[in-house]
Amino acid sequence: MTQVPEVKEVPPGFENAHADAAKYREMYKESITDPEKFWGREGKRLDWITPYTKVKNTDFTFGHVDIKWFEDGVLNASVNCIDRHLATRGDQTAIIFEPDDPETPAQHITYKELSEKVNRFANVLSSQGVMRGDRVVIYLPMIPEAAYAMLACARIGAIHSIVFAGFSPDALANRINDSGAKVVITADTAPRGGRRTPLKANADAALLHCSDKVRCLVVKHTGDQTTWIDGRDVDVKAMMENVSPDCPARPMNAEDPLFILYTSGSTGKPKGVVHTTGGYMVYAAMTHQYTFDYHDGDVFWCTADVGWVTGHSYIVYGPLANGATTVMFEGVPTYPDAGRFWAVCEKHKVNQFYTAPTAIRSLMGQGPEWVEKYDLSALKVLGSVGEPINPEAWAWYDKYVGKGKCPIVDTFWQTETGGHMLTPLPGATPTKPGSATRPFFGVKPVVLDPQTAVKQDETETEGVLCISDSWPGQMRTIWGDHERFQETYFSQYKGYYFTGDGCRRDSDGYYWITGRVDDVINVSGHRMGTAEVESALVAHQAVAEAAVVGYPHELKGQGIYAYVTLMNDVEPSDELRKELEKWVRTEIGPIAKPDIIQWAPGLPKTRSGKIMRRILRKIAENDFGSLGDTSTLADPSVVDELIENRGNK
Ligand code: PRX
Repeated sequence: MTQVPEVKEVPPGFENAHADAAKYREMYKESITDPEKFWGREGKRLDWITPYTKVKNTDFTFGHVDIKWFEDGVLNASVNCIDRHLATRGDQTAIIFEPDDPETPAQHITYKELSEKVNRFANVLSSQGVMRGDRVVIYLPMIPEAAYAMLACARIGAIHSIVFAGFSPDALANRINDSGAKVVITADTAPRGGRRTPLKANADAALLHCSDKVRCLVVKHTGDQTTWIDGRDVDVKAMMENVSPDCPARPMNAEDPLFILYTSGSTGKPKGVVHTTGGYMVYAAMTHQYTFDYHDGDVFWCTADVGWVTGHSYIVYGPLANGATTVMFEGVPTYPDAGRFWAVCEKHKVNQFYTAPTAIRSLMGQGPEWVEKYDLSALKVLGSVGEPINPEAWAWYDKYVGKGKCPIVDTFWQTETGGHMLTPLPGATPTKPGSATRPFFGVKPVVLDPQTAVKQDETETEGVLCISDSWPGQMRTIWGDHERFQETYFSQYKGYYFTGDGCRRDSDGYYWITGRVDDVINVSGHRMGTAEVESALVAHQAVAEAAVVGYPHELKGQGIYAYVTLMNDVEPSDELRKELEKWVRTEIGPIAKPDIIQWAPGLPKTRSGKIMRRILRKIAENDFGSLGDTSTLADPSVVDELIENRGNK
């Protein structure tokens, strides 16, 4: 068992060339007392076609929520990620592509090559009628074309919306339709962990539910056979050869949308989170530089998928805006064996490594010998994201991967926040395993009493985590539904942005995220609305009713626990359970598959018919002692029945 320290001071010998603790404190103070001045200066880290004269114009008042940063500035995100680096680092590697199969050579794509690919890709999009403001859905695996596609959209002012390649055709169709996309970009098949996902076939299935005007751009990646519909399907690589290598970058207003990314909320329908160009880019670039103490020449590896916000901000936009070398990994941590992450770190001399606690926990279970086989001496900073990191995993990461000399940055943030909100800064913040420590520059966290909404002023306290003022990376709206945006984030605690998370602040002012307080669960660092899984389950003809909750899961952080009430004439069986698991996989995707399905002849409901999830959560957690008051239930006996048959697998 690895010893867990309570506090880990900055490792001796670790040098942060940006600033020390005192400088950071001073910068933080300025960032919240004079945001205009602070962000006015920080905004200059980008190249602007027309410089901004206004910095911040934001209002959190419910009913009038309006967020604008650098609003009169004009810029282009792809120019900031590519063109401006060409004179000084055209021959430097921008992207290292590490394929799924370790025998396939890695690709080193220079900034010059990236420029040509993105320009050509942009011209392909234009040739398909994609114009400024149009939506483009990207359904690609972790291949360089995913980055080319994102940057190509940015170049011509189109708004990309990436759909994680693990999502089902139905989920893809919903996102194409909600965003009103003109084009979907996919690949023939996607190798992952030695297996292949039929992406094009999924896209074909999705497009049956979309307008027949939607074009399908196909990257022939593996060369696997797929169906082909002439007039609708386009071979991207072939077309890229036939278009000009130059595509002028479209001047975009700072507040023009850069992308939409769908994420789960507490109600059934995923929300299209909208990020705009100027503020998001400033924030992604700045957090990438400071949180990871990134320096010119460093090789940065974020293991997330580009289908999630972490991939947007810390594989593509942040690193490339900073002229970094960023690693894109097509595979999984355990293929061909549990040493793959570390083999890749050694091979590409990775300096900053950023992954999720669930990956660390699963590798930890394989034993430290998989790490010890490799030379990890290039590593300087380790990052964690997606869920609270348990202290044992933290200590293992520190000892075996970081050899005690690499600061660990536990970064708390969300799809909605665009970039890090709470995080240590390497070399400046002593860390505590399990705590995301302190706010990033410009972030004003507050802890509120969940019931009374009263702001808790004592340092040591617990409650819900809200943010009291805007920061440049904040989402601006929900695509097509500004009212829902205000309702979701600004209605419950007036005047604040509500994160949906609970937290504790300790006597040193360190923040500890205690998990979601809404009906969102976090499965392996992926966010899942329980309502989404419920609506998938009840769409099955055998299911009358379903209630889904999270429960502690050793590897995934949280697992999906589904209580299912069957139709009167349906008998429970193992086959039916398997069928329902498969059903959810096809309705949403493999990440939504319930870990446990419990047959529930009845669900605990109040007399007005509301399901008491609190009780279901307790039963799923195996915590029967604290069920609380069950006297308001219409039929308290269902609770005993559920306890008796808990987890009836
Ligand atoms: O509950 C928090 C958890 O993940 C949620 C955000 O999920 P998503 O939008 O998918 O973004 C994940 C990657 C940025 C948060 O509301 N979360 C994220 N990072 C942490 C975390 N919980 C604890 N510690 C973290 N470092």
